Amino acid sequence: MPEKRVEALLENWLQKLEEQTLRVGVVGLGYVGLPFALEAAEAGFQVVGIERNPERVAKVNRGENYVDDIRDEDLSRLVREGRLSATTEFDVVPELDAVVIAVPTPLDKNLVPDLQYVKHVTEELSHHIRPGHLVSLESTTFPGTTEEVMRPILERSGLRAEEDFFLAYSPERVDPGNKRWKTNNTAKVVGGVGPNSLRVAEAFYGRIIEEVVPVSSARVAEMVKVYENTFRAVNIALVNELALLCDRMGLNVWEVLDAAFTKPFGIMPFYPGPGVGGHCIPLDPHYLEWKAREYNFRTRFIGLAGEINRSMPYFVREKAWRVLNEAGKAPSRSRVLVLGLAYKADISDWRESPAVEVIKLLQQDGAEVLYHDPYIPEFKQEGLDLQSVPLTDELLQDVDLVIITTAHTGVDYPRVVRLAPRVLDTKNATKAVPDRGQKVVLL
Ligand SMILES: NC(=O)c1ccc[n+]([C@@H]2O[C@H](COP(=O)([O-])OP(=O)(O)OC[C@H]3O[C@@H](n4cnc5c(N)ncnc54)[C@H](O)[C@@H]3O)[C@@H](O)[C@H]2O)c1
Repeated sequence: MPEKRVEALLENWLQKLEEQTLRVGVVGLGYVGLPFALEAAEAGFQVVGIERNPERVAKVNRGENYVDDIRDEDLSRLVREGRLSATTEFDVVPELDAVVIAVPTPLDKNLVPDLQYVKHVTEELSHHIRPGHLVSLESTTFPGTTEEVMRPILERSGLRAEEDFFLAYSPERVDPGNKRWKTNNTAKVVGGVGPNSLRVAEAFYGRIIEEVVPVSSARVAEMVKVYENTFRAVNIALVNELALLCDRMGLNVWEVLDAAFTKPFGIMPFYPGPGVGGHCIPLDPHYLEWKAREYNFRTRFIGLAGEINRSMPYFVREKAWRVLNEAGKAPSRSRVLVLGLAYKADISDWRESPAVEVIKLLQQDGAEVLYHDPYIPEFKQEGLDLQSVPLTDELLQDVDLVIITTAHTGVDYPRVVRLAPRVLDTKNATKAVPDRGQKVVLL
Protein backbone atom coordinates (compact mmCIF):
# COMPACT_ATOMS: atom_id res chain seq x y z
CA MET A 1 0.00 0.00 0.00
CA PRO A 2 2.69 2.59 0.93
CA GLU A 3 4.21 2.14 -2.56
CA LYS A 4 0.88 3.04 -4.14
CA ARG A 5 0.62 6.16 -2.01
CA VAL A 6 4.16 7.23 -2.92
CA GLU A 7 3.49 6.47 -6.59
CA ALA A 8 0.38 8.67 -6.42
CA LEU A 9 2.39 11.50 -4.84
CA LEU A 10 5.01 11.18 -7.55
CA GLU A 11 2.46 11.11 -10.35
CA ASN A 12 0.66 14.11 -8.93
CA TRP A 13 3.91 16.05 -8.65
CA LEU A 14 5.05 15.18 -12.16
CA GLN A 15 1.65 16.11 -13.55
CA LYS A 16 1.86 19.55 -11.94
CA LEU A 17 5.29 19.91 -13.49
CA GLU A 18 3.91 18.92 -16.88
CA GLU A 19 1.02 21.39 -16.59
CA GLN A 20 3.36 24.06 -15.22
CA THR A 21 1.15 24.63 -12.21
CA LEU A 22 4.02 23.84 -9.88
CA ARG A 23 4.86 26.63 -7.42
CA VAL A 24 8.53 27.15 -6.69
CA GLY A 25 10.18 28.72 -3.67
CA VAL A 26 13.79 29.90 -3.59
CA VAL A 27 15.24 30.51 -0.13
CA GLY A 28 18.10 33.04 -0.16
CA LEU A 29 18.01 35.58 -2.99
CA GLY A 30 21.73 36.21 -3.42
CA TYR A 31 24.22 35.65 -6.23
CA VAL A 32 22.93 32.09 -6.64
CA GLY A 33 19.29 32.25 -5.56
CA LEU A 34 18.14 35.29 -7.51
CA PRO A 35 19.42 34.15 -10.93
CA PHE A 36 17.89 30.72 -10.31
CA ALA A 37 14.56 32.29 -9.28
CA LEU A 38 14.57 34.19 -12.57
CA GLU A 39 15.33 31.08 -14.59
CA ALA A 40 12.51 29.19 -12.88
CA ALA A 41 10.11 32.06 -13.57
CA GLU A 42 11.29 32.24 -17.20
CA ALA A 43 10.61 28.50 -17.47
CA GLY A 44 6.97 29.26 -16.70
CA PHE A 45 6.73 28.56 -12.98
CA GLN A 46 5.23 30.78 -10.35
CA VAL A 47 8.18 31.69 -8.13
CA VAL A 48 8.40 33.18 -4.68
CA GLY A 49 11.71 34.06 -3.06
CA ILE A 50 12.06 33.72 0.70
CA GLU A 51 14.78 36.08 1.83
CA ARG A 52 15.52 37.21 5.36
CA ASN A 53 16.92 40.59 4.30
CA PRO A 54 13.85 42.88 4.04
CA GLU A 55 15.70 45.37 1.83
CA ARG A 56 16.33 42.66 -0.77
CA VAL A 57 12.70 41.54 -0.55
CA ALA A 58 11.49 45.10 -1.10
CA LYS A 59 13.87 45.52 -4.05
CA VAL A 60 12.71 42.34 -5.74
CA ASN A 61 9.06 43.27 -5.25
CA ARG A 62 9.79 46.66 -6.84
CA GLY A 63 11.52 44.88 -9.72
CA GLU A 64 14.92 46.37 -8.80
CA ASN A 65 18.00 44.30 -9.47
CA TYR A 66 21.05 44.00 -7.20
CA VAL A 67 22.95 41.06 -8.75
CA ASP A 68 25.52 41.71 -11.52
CA ASP A 69 24.65 38.79 -13.78
CA ILE A 70 20.94 39.56 -14.07
CA ARG A 71 19.51 41.92 -16.65
CA ASP A 72 17.49 44.63 -14.88
CA GLU A 73 14.73 44.43 -17.50
CA ASP A 74 14.29 40.67 -17.03
CA LEU A 75 13.75 41.03 -13.29
CA SER A 76 11.35 43.96 -13.61
CA ARG A 77 9.38 42.20 -16.37
CA LEU A 78 8.94 38.96 -14.39
CA VAL A 79 7.84 40.88 -11.29
CA ARG A 80 5.43 43.02 -13.35
CA GLU A 81 3.94 39.91 -14.94
CA GLY A 82 3.36 38.49 -11.42
CA ARG A 83 5.63 35.49 -12.00
CA LEU A 84 8.19 36.41 -9.36
CA SER A 85 7.74 37.89 -5.89
CA ALA A 86 9.57 37.82 -2.58
CA THR A 87 8.78 37.59 1.10
CA THR A 88 10.62 37.34 4.41
CA GLU A 89 8.15 34.75 5.73
CA PHE A 90 8.25 30.98 5.55
CA ASP A 91 4.49 30.66 5.95
CA VAL A 92 4.18 30.62 2.13
CA VAL A 93 5.91 27.22 2.09
CA PRO A 94 2.74 25.07 2.35
CA GLU A 95 1.52 26.62 -0.93
CA LEU A 96 4.73 25.61 -2.72
CA ASP A 97 5.68 22.34 -4.40
CA ALA A 98 9.43 22.75 -4.73
CA VAL A 99 11.77 24.67 -2.43
CA VAL A 100 15.33 25.40 -3.53
CA ILE A 101 17.79 26.58 -0.87
CA ALA A 102 20.71 28.88 -1.72
CA VAL A 103 21.86 30.37 1.57
CA PRO A 104 25.46 31.04 2.60
CA THR A 105 27.75 28.27 3.82
CA PRO A 106 30.69 30.13 5.35
CA LEU A 107 33.51 28.91 7.57
CA ASP A 108 34.06 30.05 11.13
CA LYS A 109 37.37 31.61 12.12
CA ASN A 110 38.88 28.17 12.74
CA LEU A 111 38.05 27.07 9.17
CA VAL A 112 35.19 24.88 10.43
CA PRO A 113 31.97 24.70 8.32
CA ASP A 114 29.30 27.00 9.65
CA LEU A 115 25.97 25.43 8.68
CA GLN A 116 23.83 27.78 10.77
CA TYR A 117 22.01 29.20 7.72
CA VAL A 118 21.25 25.80 6.20
CA LYS A 119 20.09 24.46 9.57
CA HIS A 120 17.94 27.48 10.28
CA VAL A 121 16.20 27.26 6.92
CA THR A 122 15.72 23.50 7.28
CA GLU A 123 14.15 23.98 10.72
CA GLU A 124 11.80 26.60 9.31
CA LEU A 125 10.86 24.24 6.49
CA SER A 126 10.23 21.38 8.95
CA HIS A 127 7.39 23.44 10.46
CA HIS A 128 5.72 23.94 7.08
CA ILE A 129 6.59 20.91 4.98
CA ARG A 130 3.72 18.87 3.57
CA PRO A 131 3.42 15.62 1.61
CA GLY A 132 4.66 15.92 -1.95
CA HIS A 133 7.22 18.66 -1.34
CA LEU A 134 10.57 18.67 -3.08
CA VAL A 135 13.36 20.31 -1.04
CA SER A 136 16.62 20.83 -2.89
CA LEU A 137 19.78 22.27 -1.37
CA GLU A 138 22.08 24.21 -3.72
CA SER A 139 24.50 25.73 -1.21
CA THR A 140 28.01 24.35 -1.43
CA THR A 141 28.75 22.01 1.44
CA PHE A 142 30.49 18.81 2.56
CA PRO A 143 29.29 15.37 1.43
CA GLY A 144 26.63 14.19 3.85
CA THR A 145 24.92 17.51 4.64
CA THR A 146 21.63 16.72 2.90
CA GLU A 147 21.37 13.20 4.26
CA GLU A 148 22.89 13.61 7.72
CA VAL A 149 21.99 17.18 8.66
CA MET A 150 18.87 18.17 6.72
CA ARG A 151 16.98 14.90 6.54
CA PRO A 152 16.70 14.34 10.34
CA ILE A 153 15.57 17.93 10.87
CA LEU A 154 12.89 17.69 8.15
CA GLU A 155 11.72 14.32 9.44
CA ARG A 156 10.99 15.88 12.83
CA SER A 157 7.82 16.98 11.06
CA GLY A 158 6.67 13.37 11.21
CA LEU A 159 6.96 13.07 7.42
CA ARG A 160 9.51 10.72 5.82
CA ALA A 161 11.91 11.55 3.00
CA GLU A 162 11.28 9.37 -0.06
CA GLU A 163 7.81 8.41 1.22
CA ASP A 164 6.18 11.75 2.02
CA PHE A 165 8.56 14.35 0.66
CA PHE A 166 11.53 14.40 -1.70
CA LEU A 167 14.99 15.64 -0.78
CA ALA A 168 17.85 16.36 -3.15
CA TYR A 169 21.14 18.17 -3.53
CA SER A 170 21.99 20.05 -6.70
CA PRO A 171 25.08 22.26 -6.58
CA GLU A 172 25.00 25.67 -8.19
CA ARG A 173 27.90 26.26 -10.57
CA VAL A 174 27.32 29.91 -11.42
CA ASP A 175 30.47 31.80 -12.39
CA PRO A 176 29.78 35.47 -11.66
CA GLY A 177 30.69 37.74 -14.56
CA ASN A 178 30.87 34.88 -17.07
CA LYS A 179 29.10 36.06 -20.22
CA ARG A 180 28.86 32.65 -21.86
CA TRP A 181 28.02 30.20 -19.09
CA LYS A 182 24.93 31.19 -17.14
CA THR A 183 22.62 29.35 -14.76
CA ASN A 184 20.47 27.82 -17.49
CA ASN A 185 23.14 26.64 -19.93
CA THR A 186 25.53 25.16 -17.36
CA ALA A 187 24.91 21.45 -16.85
CA LYS A 188 23.37 20.77 -13.45
CA VAL A 189 24.34 17.81 -11.30
CA VAL A 190 21.48 16.35 -9.25
CA GLY A 191 21.50 13.68 -6.53
CA GLY A 192 18.61 12.56 -4.36
CA VAL A 193 18.52 10.89 -0.94
CA GLY A 194 16.81 8.04 -2.77
CA PRO A 195 15.43 7.12 -6.21
CA ASN A 196 12.10 8.94 -5.76
CA SER A 197 13.82 12.16 -4.77
CA LEU A 198 16.18 11.85 -7.73
CA ARG A 199 13.29 11.25 -10.13
CA VAL A 200 11.42 14.35 -8.96
CA ALA A 201 14.51 16.59 -8.75
CA GLU A 202 15.79 15.49 -12.16
CA ALA A 203 12.43 16.23 -13.75
CA PHE A 204 12.23 19.60 -11.98
CA TYR A 205 15.66 20.86 -12.99
CA GLY A 206 15.20 19.43 -16.47
CA ARG A 207 12.44 22.00 -17.01
CA ILE A 208 14.69 24.91 -16.06
CA ILE A 209 18.25 23.96 -16.99
CA GLU A 210 19.36 22.80 -20.45
CA GLU A 211 21.27 19.74 -19.24
CA VAL A 212 20.83 17.75 -16.04
CA VAL A 213 23.41 15.23 -14.86
CA PRO A 214 21.85 12.72 -12.45
CA VAL A 215 24.13 10.99 -9.94
CA SER A 216 23.42 8.13 -7.56
CA SER A 217 23.10 10.07 -4.30
CA ALA A 218 23.02 13.50 -2.71
CA ARG A 219 26.44 12.69 -1.23
CA VAL A 220 27.95 12.18 -4.68
CA ALA A 221 26.48 15.49 -5.87
CA GLU A 222 27.93 17.24 -2.82
CA MET A 223 31.34 15.70 -3.48
CA VAL A 224 31.19 16.78 -7.15
CA LYS A 225 30.83 20.42 -6.13
CA VAL A 226 33.57 20.47 -3.49
CA TYR A 227 35.87 18.60 -5.86
CA GLU A 228 35.28 21.18 -8.62
CA ASN A 229 36.19 24.03 -6.31
CA THR A 230 39.12 22.14 -4.82
CA PHE A 231 40.39 21.52 -8.35
CA ARG A 232 40.49 25.27 -8.94
CA ALA A 233 42.01 26.08 -5.55
CA VAL A 234 44.80 23.52 -6.01
CA ASN A 235 45.62 24.55 -9.57
CA ILE A 236 45.66 28.23 -8.68
CA ALA A 237 47.96 27.41 -5.75
CA LEU A 238 50.25 25.46 -8.09
CA VAL A 239 50.58 28.40 -10.45
CA ASN A 240 51.00 30.81 -7.52
CA GLU A 241 53.84 28.65 -6.25
CA LEU A 242 55.39 28.77 -9.71
CA ALA A 243 55.12 32.58 -9.60
CA LEU A 244 56.98 32.64 -6.27
CA LEU A 245 59.73 30.45 -7.68
CA CYS A 246 59.98 32.43 -10.93
CA ASP A 247 60.38 35.58 -8.85
CA ARG A 248 63.41 34.07 -7.11
CA MET A 249 64.83 32.76 -10.37
CA GLY A 250 64.34 36.04 -12.22
CA LEU A 251 61.92 34.47 -14.72
CA ASN A 252 58.72 36.04 -16.03
CA VAL A 253 56.02 33.59 -14.94
CA TRP A 254 53.52 35.02 -17.43
CA GLU A 255 55.86 34.30 -20.34
CA VAL A 256 56.33 30.75 -19.04
CA LEU A 257 52.57 30.24 -18.80
CA ASP A 258 51.72 31.76 -22.18
CA ALA A 259 54.15 29.36 -23.79
CA ALA A 260 53.01 26.38 -21.68
CA PHE A 261 49.36 26.92 -22.58
CA THR A 262 50.08 26.60 -26.28
CA LYS A 263 50.17 22.84 -25.66
CA PRO A 264 46.88 21.62 -27.10
CA PHE A 265 46.34 18.78 -24.64
CA GLY A 266 47.12 17.74 -21.08
CA ILE A 267 47.24 21.25 -19.66
CA MET A 268 44.68 23.83 -18.63
CA PRO A 269 45.20 27.57 -18.14
CA PHE A 270 45.40 28.89 -14.57
CA TYR A 271 47.07 32.18 -13.68
CA PRO A 272 48.73 33.54 -10.58
CA GLY A 273 47.47 36.55 -8.67
CA PRO A 274 47.35 38.28 -5.31
CA GLY A 275 45.41 35.36 -3.77
CA VAL A 276 41.97 33.82 -4.19
CA GLY A 277 38.66 35.38 -3.29
CA GLY A 278 34.92 35.01 -3.49
CA HIS A 279 32.54 32.86 -1.55
CA CYS A 280 33.75 29.59 -3.11
CA ILE A 281 37.40 28.88 -3.86
CA PRO A 282 38.94 30.04 -0.56
CA LEU A 283 36.23 28.38 1.56
CA ASP A 284 34.68 25.30 -0.01
CA PRO A 285 37.75 23.00 -0.02
CA HIS A 286 37.87 23.41 3.77
CA TYR A 287 34.39 21.90 3.96
CA LEU A 288 35.86 18.72 2.50
CA GLU A 289 38.99 18.97 4.63
CA TRP A 290 36.81 19.14 7.75
CA LYS A 291 34.62 16.21 6.75
CA ALA A 292 37.64 14.08 5.81
CA ARG A 293 38.81 14.22 9.43
CA GLU A 294 35.78 12.15 10.43
CA TYR A 295 37.32 9.40 8.28
CA ASN A 296 40.78 9.87 9.81
CA PHE A 297 41.94 11.26 6.46
CA ARG A 298 44.08 14.31 5.89
CA THR A 299 43.44 16.15 2.60
CA ARG A 300 47.01 17.32 2.08
CA PHE A 301 46.49 19.12 -1.24
CA ILE A 302 43.71 21.25 0.25
CA GLY A 303 45.81 22.30 3.22
CA LEU A 304 48.79 23.14 1.05
CA ALA A 305 46.74 25.02 -1.54
CA GLY A 306 45.11 27.11 1.18
CA GLU A 307 48.51 27.88 2.68
CA ILE A 308 50.01 29.03 -0.63
CA ASN A 309 46.97 31.01 -1.77
CA ARG A 310 46.65 32.77 1.58
CA SER A 311 50.34 33.71 1.48
CA MET A 312 49.98 35.64 -1.79
CA PRO A 313 48.87 39.01 -0.33
CA TYR A 314 52.03 38.89 1.84
CA PHE A 315 54.10 38.34 -1.28
CA VAL A 316 52.38 41.29 -2.99
CA ARG A 317 53.28 43.43 0.02
CA GLU A 318 56.91 42.27 -0.11
CA LYS A 319 57.15 42.90 -3.83
CA ALA A 320 55.56 46.34 -3.45
CA TRP A 321 58.19 47.34 -0.91
CA ARG A 322 60.96 46.03 -3.16
CA VAL A 323 59.65 48.21 -6.01
CA LEU A 324 59.43 51.25 -3.75
CA ASN A 325 62.82 50.55 -2.20
CA GLU A 326 64.43 50.62 -5.63
CA ALA A 327 63.00 54.11 -6.02
CA GLY A 328 64.37 55.09 -2.60
CA LYS A 329 60.93 55.23 -0.98
CA ALA A 330 60.10 53.93 2.49
CA PRO A 331 56.76 52.13 2.91
CA SER A 332 55.75 54.43 5.74
CA ARG A 333 56.22 57.48 3.49
CA SER A 334 54.54 56.04 0.43
CA ARG A 335 51.20 56.66 -1.15
CA VAL A 336 49.86 53.55 -2.85
CA LEU A 337 46.85 53.15 -5.11
CA VAL A 338 45.29 49.69 -5.09
CA LEU A 339 43.54 49.27 -8.42
CA GLY A 340 40.64 46.81 -8.06
CA LEU A 341 38.96 45.65 -4.88
CA ALA A 342 36.60 42.98 -6.26
CA TYR A 343 37.92 39.42 -6.07
CA LYS A 344 37.69 39.05 -9.84
CA ALA A 345 37.27 41.19 -12.94
CA ASP A 346 34.07 43.02 -13.84
CA ILE A 347 32.02 42.15 -10.76
CA SER A 348 31.29 43.95 -7.50
CA ASP A 349 31.78 41.04 -5.09
CA TRP A 350 34.54 41.79 -2.57
CA ARG A 351 34.01 38.75 -0.33
CA GLU A 352 37.36 37.20 0.68
CA SER A 353 39.01 39.47 -1.89
CA PRO A 354 42.80 39.34 -1.57
CA ALA A 355 42.91 43.07 -2.43
CA VAL A 356 41.38 43.78 0.97
CA GLU A 357 44.18 41.84 2.64
CA VAL A 358 46.76 43.69 0.55
CA ILE A 359 45.32 47.04 1.65
CA LYS A 360 45.40 46.03 5.30
CA LEU A 361 49.00 44.83 5.08
CA LEU A 362 50.18 48.02 3.37
CA GLN A 363 48.38 50.11 5.98
CA GLN A 364 50.01 48.11 8.77
CA ASP A 365 53.37 49.14 7.35
CA GLY A 366 52.35 52.78 7.53
CA ALA A 367 51.61 53.46 3.85
CA GLU A 368 48.79 55.76 2.80
CA VAL A 369 46.54 53.45 0.78
CA LEU A 370 43.85 54.56 -1.65
CA TYR A 371 41.77 52.34 -3.86
CA HIS A 372 39.90 52.61 -7.12
CA ASP A 373 37.25 50.15 -8.21
CA PRO A 374 34.57 51.09 -10.74
CA TYR A 375 32.25 48.45 -9.24
CA ILE A 376 32.71 49.24 -5.54
CA PRO A 377 32.19 52.93 -4.76
CA GLU A 378 32.88 52.57 -1.04
CA PHE A 379 34.17 49.93 1.30
CA LYS A 380 33.15 49.96 4.94
CA GLN A 381 33.88 46.41 5.96
CA GLU A 382 36.52 44.42 7.77
CA GLY A 383 37.72 47.42 9.78
CA LEU A 384 38.30 49.56 6.67
CA ASP A 385 36.44 52.75 5.82
CA LEU A 386 37.42 53.75 2.30
CA GLN A 387 35.89 55.40 -0.75
CA SER A 388 36.91 54.56 -4.29
CA VAL A 389 38.95 57.51 -5.57
CA PRO A 390 38.43 58.80 -9.13
CA LEU A 391 41.21 57.74 -11.46
CA THR A 392 42.31 61.28 -12.36
CA ASP A 393 45.59 62.23 -14.05
CA GLU A 394 46.64 64.05 -10.88
CA LEU A 395 46.04 61.01 -8.72
CA LEU A 396 47.95 58.67 -11.01
CA GLN A 397 50.89 61.08 -11.18
CA ASP A 398 50.84 61.77 -7.47
CA VAL A 399 50.95 58.24 -6.02
CA ASP A 400 54.24 56.40 -5.52
CA LEU A 401 52.94 53.07 -6.72
CA VAL A 402 49.86 51.58 -8.38
CA ILE A 403 49.18 47.94 -7.55
CA ILE A 404 46.78 46.25 -9.97
CA THR A 405 44.90 43.65 -7.92
CA THR A 406 41.84 43.08 -10.15
CA ALA A 407 41.94 43.10 -13.95
CA HIS A 408 38.69 45.03 -14.54
CA THR A 409 38.37 45.34 -18.31
CA GLY A 410 36.98 48.90 -18.27
CA VAL A 411 40.18 50.43 -16.87
CA ASP A 412 42.41 52.35 -19.31
CA TYR A 413 45.66 50.52 -18.55
CA PRO A 414 47.80 52.35 -21.15
CA ARG A 415 46.85 55.59 -19.39
CA VAL A 416 47.62 54.13 -15.95
CA VAL A 417 51.06 53.01 -17.14
CA ARG A 418 51.73 56.32 -18.91
CA LEU A 419 50.89 58.48 -15.90
CA ALA A 420 51.81 56.46 -12.82
CA PRO A 421 55.47 56.53 -11.71
CA ARG A 422 55.53 52.75 -11.23
CA VAL A 423 53.05 49.87 -11.42
CA LEU A 424 53.02 46.48 -9.74
CA ASP A 425 50.75 44.36 -11.91
CA THR A 426 49.63 41.19 -10.09
CA LYS A 427 47.20 40.15 -12.86
CA ASN A 428 49.14 40.88 -16.05
CA ALA A 429 46.36 43.35 -16.87
CA THR A 430 48.87 45.57 -18.70
CA LYS A 431 49.86 42.80 -21.10
CA ALA A 432 48.76 44.74 -24.18
CA VAL A 433 50.42 48.02 -23.14
CA PRO A 434 53.39 48.75 -25.42
CA ASP A 435 56.73 49.48 -23.69
CA ARG A 436 55.31 48.71 -20.28
CA GLY A 437 58.65 47.19 -19.27
CA GLN A 438 59.97 50.58 -18.15
CA LYS A 439 57.46 51.04 -15.41
CA VAL A 440 55.58 47.82 -14.85
CA VAL A 441 56.75 45.09 -12.49
CA LEU A 442 54.83 41.84 -12.79
CA LEU A 443 53.96 39.49 -9.94
N1 LIG B 1 28.45 33.25 -5.48
C1 LIG B 1 28.88 32.24 -6.22
O1 LIG B 1 29.59 32.44 -7.18
C2 LIG B 1 28.50 30.81 -5.91
C3 LIG B 1 28.65 29.84 -6.91
C4 LIG B 1 28.28 28.54 -6.67
C5 LIG B 1 27.80 28.21 -5.40
N2 LIG B 1 27.68 29.14 -4.42
C6 LIG B 1 27.14 28.72 -3.13
O2 LIG B 1 25.78 29.09 -3.05
C7 LIG B 1 25.44 29.45 -1.72
C8 LIG B 1 24.87 30.86 -1.69
O3 LIG B 1 25.89 31.76 -2.12
P1 LIG B 1 25.57 33.23 -2.60
O4 LIG B 1 26.83 33.73 -3.20
O5 LIG B 1 24.32 33.26 -3.40
O6 LIG B 1 25.32 33.94 -1.17
P2 LIG B 1 24.64 35.37 -0.95
O7 LIG B 1 25.16 35.84 0.37
O8 LIG B 1 24.83 36.22 -2.16
O9 LIG B 1 23.10 35.04 -0.84
C9 LIG B 1 22.56 34.31 0.20
C10 LIG B 1 21.24 34.96 0.58
O10 LIG B 1 20.64 34.13 1.58
C11 LIG B 1 19.97 34.98 2.49
N3 LIG B 1 19.71 34.23 3.73
C12 LIG B 1 20.59 33.87 4.69
N4 LIG B 1 19.96 33.20 5.66
C13 LIG B 1 18.67 33.12 5.30
C14 LIG B 1 17.52 32.55 5.90
N5 LIG B 1 17.60 31.92 7.07
N6 LIG B 1 16.35 32.67 5.27
C15 LIG B 1 16.25 33.31 4.08
N7 LIG B 1 17.31 33.88 3.47
C16 LIG B 1 18.50 33.78 4.07
C17 LIG B 1 20.92 36.14 2.65
O11 LIG B 1 20.28 37.28 3.20
C18 LIG B 1 21.38 36.34 1.21
O12 LIG B 1 20.56 37.25 0.50
C19 LIG B 1 26.71 29.27 -0.90
O13 LIG B 1 26.72 28.00 -0.35
C20 LIG B 1 27.80 29.38 -1.94
O14 LIG B 1 28.97 28.68 -1.54
C21 LIG B 1 28.00 30.45 -4.66
